[in-house]
Amino acid sequence: MNINLKDKRALITGASSGLGEIIAKEFAADGAKIGLNYHSHPDAAEKIASNIRENGADVFTLQSDVSDAESVEAMFEKFIKQYGGIDILVNNAGIDGNRALVWESDISEWEKVVKINLFGPYYCAREALKYMTVQKSGVILNMTSVHENIPWSGYSGYAAAKAGLSMLTKTIAQEVGSLGIRVMSLAPGAIKTPINQSVWGNPNSLADLIDKIPYGRLGEREEVAKAAAFLVSENASYVTGSTLFVDGAMIDYANFTHGG
Ligand code: BGC
Repeated sequence: MNINLKDKRALITGASSGLGEIIAKEFAADGAKIGLNYHSHPDAAEKIASNIRENGADVFTLQSDVSDAESVEAMFEKFIKQYGGIDILVNNAGIDGNRALVWESDISEWEKVVKINLFGPYYCAREALKYMTVQKSGVILNMTSVHENIPWSGYSGYAAAKAGLSMLTKTIAQEVGSLGIRVMSLAPGAIKTPINQSVWGNPNSLADLIDKIPYGRLGEREEVAKAAAFLVSENASYVTGSTLFVDGAMIDYANFTHGG
């Protein structure tokens, strides 16, 4: 299947590492023009951008804190000034936060997790849709998680935000369906990225994690990026308002693999 994103103007949040980085590279390889958002690592973002440029694609970096509405507005102003419109938004920026049971958790930490993982995508979608609704075209891809579905002890803010983001996807898809705009969620499972390095970097926690995946291994970043490229491309022209899980069947009750 040929994925063609030629000249599509794509803004990808949280793209200075992890899934955002590899999605930016994949979209650029498919012909898209990239606005590469980062929060606090300009050097890493610039390095990725120059790597993308060397391969002949159009890219520039954009600093913004997605949990701050004014900062998001300023980022969109720059993006629109550069490319004149927006075709693709990938709401990827996110953090797991520190592990803490609800009654032991710190309120400001909890708020931070929800602000980045849920308010961020809302602020970005709100800006992008100002343009997409006028253009009457566009795609928004919200990176959720298997934890839009699976509760995750110690990460209540994260799970609540991802479940909320999944519902945000569906609701926006309903709002813009008649305007030719698609909105989807992509829910990765355990993918080898810096976000969960402390888990897959340790043999015991890695074995415990693999036990939760019927397919028997962690995912690679490229496997998520390929799925993301499909979803934002014309190949997925009738896919909207739903979630694609890229998770090795993690949501599929792994404990029942050996009978119940
Ligand atoms: C989290 C990872 C975790 C995975 C599976 C993701 O959403 O960001 O840290 O390994 O879910 O639990």
